[in-house]
Amino acid sequence: MPRQPDQREPILQVRDLVKHFPLTQGILLKRQIGAVKAVDGVSFDLHPGETLGIVGESGCGKSTVARLLMSLETPTSGQIRYKGQDISRLSGRALKAVRRNIQMVFQDPYTSLNPRMTVGDIIGEPYEIHPEAAPRGERRRKVQELLDVVGLNPEHINRYPHQFSGGQRQRIGIARGLALNPEIIICDEPVSALDVSVQAQVINLMERLQDEFGLSYVFIAHDLSVVRHISDRVAVMYLGRIVETGSHQEIYDHPTHPYTQALLSAVPVPDPAAREHRERIILRGDVPSPADPPSGCRFRTRCWKAQRTCAEVDPPLAVPVAFQGARGPVAHDSACHFAEEKEHVAHG
Ligand SMILES: Nc1ncnc2c1ncn2[C@@H]1O[C@H](COP(=O)(O)OP(=O)(O)OP(=O)(O)O)[C@@H](O)[C@H]1O
Ligand code: SF4
Ligand SMILES: [Mg+2]
Repeated sequence: MPRQPDQREPILQVRDLVKHFPLTQGILLKRQIGAVKAVDGVSFDLHPGETLGIVGESGCGKSTVARLLMSLETPTSGQIRYKGQDISRLSGRALKAVRRNIQMVFQDPYTSLNPRMTVGDIIGEPYEIHPEAAPRGERRRKVQELLDVVGLNPEHINRYPHQFSGGQRQRIGIARGLALNPEIIICDEPVSALDVSVQAQVINLMERLQDEFGLSYVFIAHDLSVVRHISDRVAVMYLGRIVETGSHQEIYDHPTHPYTQALLSAVPVPDPAAREHRERIILRGDVPSPADPPSGCRFRTRCWKAQRTCAEVDPPLAVPVAFQGARGPVAHDSACHFAEEKEHVAHG
């Protein structure tokens, strides 16, 4: 069951975050002919100890958000405040100090671990960059502790990544993410490359570690079913924007945005009775190019409810007018002019 969200000050506040990648033409004289609007005005909070799930189809900007949070990219505009301080344009020592507290676990445990390094060197690598985190003489013991914490045999410290299964490799990636004792871990599709049976084990491990170390997670996935158990809150992204966001209950039980409803309708339902009642919403067409997003509501080219207003007026991410007087889980942020609850968007 999702825990109650923490009411303390957010540990991370993201405001109007934008990342446009320039599109250029010409070889010698590069001329900018446009921009890929990978992230185009994203705002959210992350509270201490909570998990925010970020979900959306391929190319909607999830990894770009992750890279911006990790300061691996500089935003075109907008702010990322960590404990109140804008960290989006830090450099040098100040950036290094913040980086210690914000770590990342990557999608593909097959390519994200250097095949020529032992797991001991991989997990201990962050200590090379932050030697103050562990004196040299203590590192081996620390790495063995980390192996134990993630459920691997500490005696396997001298093995190489290819000697481990996919799930075990992701445990190595998680151990590396924990090495500096961070407060926040950005998880960019950490289980997508794993078999479904192994996915659950890795997610359970991450939940246990979160409780043990008081971690806050941003957990990225392209499927709402993956983040269902781990998320306290969920943000649904489409073409560089968040289109609906709310608590676990608000998003899974009372989605009001057509895109979220379509994503939920595609999630496998284990209960046959519930399966019979639900209507599968098939989205037509492809995701438009982020270099040339549709006017007004970006989802309108695939939305079965689109009307003329949708092409003219960009719906804000706010509690829709229809629900502003309402109480309870239906009154949450949804960027749709015609937001409504839909019956039978069962999700098991
Ligand atoms: N360095 C870059 N230069 C130009 N375009 C980029 C760059 N990085 C990402 N993009 C583009 O930005 C958009 C968003 O990419 P991003 O990787 O953030 O999406 P994603 O949601 O993580 O997708 P996936 O689910 O496939 O991982 C895509 O259209 C991508 O091609
Ligand atoms: S604003 Fe219009 S096009 Fe966009 S999701 Fe709502 S109904 Fe569909
Ligand atoms: Mg990605």
